[in-house]
Amino acid sequence: MASHPQPQPSPAEALPPPAGGKPAGPTAFGPRSAVLAVIGVGPDGSSVDALDPLDLALLRGEAVFEAIRVYQGRPFRLAAHLARLVRSAAALELTLPRGLEALCSRAIDQAGGGDGILRLLCTRGIEGELASTVFAIITEVPPKLEAHRARGLNLVLLTVAADPLVRAASPWLLPGAKSTSYAVNMAASRAAAARGADDAVFVGLGGELLELPTSNIWWRAGETLYTPSLDLGILAGVNRAVLQELAPSLGYRVLEGVFTADDLAAADEAFVSSTIREVMPVVSIDHQPVADGRPGPAATKLHTALRRLATA
Ligand SMILES: Cc1ncc(COP(=O)(O)O)c(C=O)c1O
Repeated sequence: MASHPQPQPSPAEALPPPAGGKPAGPTAFGPRSAVLAVIGVGPDGSSVDALDPLDLALLRGEAVFEAIRVYQGRPFRLAAHLARLVRSAAALELTLPRGLEALCSRAIDQAGGGDGILRLLCTRGIEGELASTVFAIITEVPPKLEAHRARGLNLVLLTVAADPLVRAASPWLLPGAKSTSYAVNMAASRAAAARGADDAVFVGLGGELLELPTSNIWWRAGETLYTPSLDLGILAGVNRAVLQELAPSLGYRVLEGVFTADDLAAADEAFVSSTIREVMPVVSIDHQPVADGRPGPAATKLHTALRRLATA
């Protein structure tokens, strides 16, 4: 006889109980995700505390998300992240509920402040109902990041079977949208690891440099910083925009455009930007050193300036 399913604890209940009743800070959660706050706008307006298995986020990967760095209890560039979330939702024709900013605050408060990564994930909902469930999840900043920053990243080029300009002009390919359909991006990172690298850089069919699975790519020649144009359909990184703001005060000008691996190979240094990696040097591409194969000065200066801005 089939046994009846037992009621499962909600994600929040499934967490180990926080010491003293209240989490001490994001690091108290360890590397496992902690779902701290959820809003679901059901058809009757009721709230939900778990994802329905029929939600199209699970069935079809239809959800949008943001990863937001929290420094000393304050979300960095929250408005820019929420604006991008709205753009991503529009690209997927997904309806966002109200109250996202308040949800972020609740999650950060419940995590007890400190440093962490806040993930905001908005699902499409159930076929026919299309009411989003939103998760605010706080995890710790991966401890390995600083070791990677100190030694620099080794990257390999991986071609995507697409003409980026055609992709960018095809809204149904969701160019520049931050959706949870990231299985391809994660497969690329694993393919890079299989080649002995830390991560991949995507290259278009015509050799155009694009981005990493979760970061933007940059390089420096002299006092000029180069990064691929958003016209190529890449993600408009929040920290990419921050670096554009910071560069002039550090004596660099920024040029966006369509570039190839040859441009990167001839660079004086290279680095990546993302919310999670902030600014991280790149020391080799396809197992060939970038310049002298050591982290470069622009990456260090930009990283220092970014941290100063984020913690001011
Ligand atoms: C494909 C892709 N490119 C670039 C980035 C960097 O964007 P941000 O600086 O907003 O983290 C991300 C971030 O997740 C990404 O997924």
